[in-house]
Amino acid sequence: MQFEELIDTLVQRFNEGSFIQATISQPRYKSSELVKVKLKPVQLKNEIHIQFEYHYERILKHENVKLTEVRAALQQQLEQFKQMQAEFTAEKVHIQLTKKFKVSWKAEKTATKKTADLSHNRKKNYLLDDETPYPFLIRLGVQTPDGKVKKQKYDKFRQINRFVEYIDDALAHLPKDRPVRILDFGSGKSYLTFALYHYLHLEKGLDIRVTGLDLKKEVIEECNVIAKDLEYDQLEFLVGDINDYNEETAVDMVVTLHACDVATDMALARAVKWGAKVILSVPCCQHELFSQIDSPALDVMLQHGLLKERFSALATDSIRAELLSIVGYDAQLLEFIDMEHTPKNILIRAYYTGKKPTAENMVKYEAFRDLLNAKPFLETELEEAGYLVRS
Ligand SMILES: C[S@@+](CC[C@H](N)C(=O)[O-])C[C@H]1O[C@@H](n2cnc3c(N)ncnc32)[C@H](O)[C@@H]1O
Repeated sequence: MQFEELIDTLVQRFNEGSFIQATISQPRYKSSELVKVKLKPVQLKNEIHIQFEYHYERILKHENVKLTEVRAALQQQLEQFKQMQAEFTAEKVHIQLTKKFKVSWKAEKTATKKTADLSHNRKKNYLLDDETPYPFLIRLGVQTPDGKVKKQKYDKFRQINRFVEYIDDALAHLPKDRPVRILDFGSGKSYLTFALYHYLHLEKGLDIRVTGLDLKKEVIEECNVIAKDLEYDQLEFLVGDINDYNEETAVDMVVTLHACDVATDMALARAVKWGAKVILSVPCCQHELFSQIDSPALDVMLQHGLLKERFSALATDSIRAELLSIVGYDAQLLEFIDMEHTPKNILIRAYYTGKKPTAENMVKYEAFRDLLNAKPFLETELEEAGYLVRS
């Protein structure tokens, strides 16, 4: 078979709908930065495209090519590689290309007929799929170099994916006419920070500037090394305390994932002061209210330490959501990930609407707070900044 004939055959199969997936590999030239290219059909707005997934040493890029334009794109890739493994509805084919572009085509019939999965993201719940090697996940030790998620890291992988889904839902609330400023407070090892950079910048093409902030110097240094190696040039990590971080005047999105205790509240207060359009925050351990609550009416429950702990956590998140509503957010408490995987399973999602609170909002909030006889950190922060009007 000649090279031209190979291209014709593949394009014909793309068009007739028998193509399932393919991997083009073995770069022809040593200098090539592109390691392999994966292909699959995807349906976008009722039109079939072939998705080219370019795997570079450290970066992954996607391009969806219309069938009318796929010939040139395919030829361009095949000219740079020596091998292709392709899967069609009824056969698997191993294609080898010689130095002079002679083609060897070895087909093997498959026992059962397959059909192509045309969804843009094959696993509905996973925006980052668990078979694709993502350079940042490999560097962070979540995936093995060939893209398998490590068993002991699967919960983390699930959490990252869930969070990225919420980020995806929030896209409509972010500005489109200028770079989007994002802060991840208490970023720690920064799985989430890297994931959101990868997803928003590399997959969605958004112009973003992301900062991860954490107290841990060594962890932050390591994150900066990884960001530099991966050429994530709009991503930086800073050592610091959320409470002292006043560098910004405006931020579009603030995220936190398991920032300890009142660190979450510090982040929420900062987000409000910066007028962040989107807040996504999964709180962590909560000790503040536990030590404050003093409510005889609730003693039947609170006399049990375990219940007091759980109640304090739920009361804290209720207070956070209520205060965010009072300062102009549409705030909801959503399930982050099911209890089976982590007990820290509430996500606070707040979109800024600017809606003015009614007098009853504050009255309702104060009644709840007074029942607990507590003085929540977030309330004090927002009050001192002049965001809360007393009832
Ligand atoms: C449980 S870890 C979560 C890390 C990361 N977000 C994740 O989900 O993998 C909490 C992080 O919050 C950081 N942290 C706690 N209080 C902080 C503060 N006041 N300022 C900055 N970082 C803080 C800790 O150093 C820690 O790395």
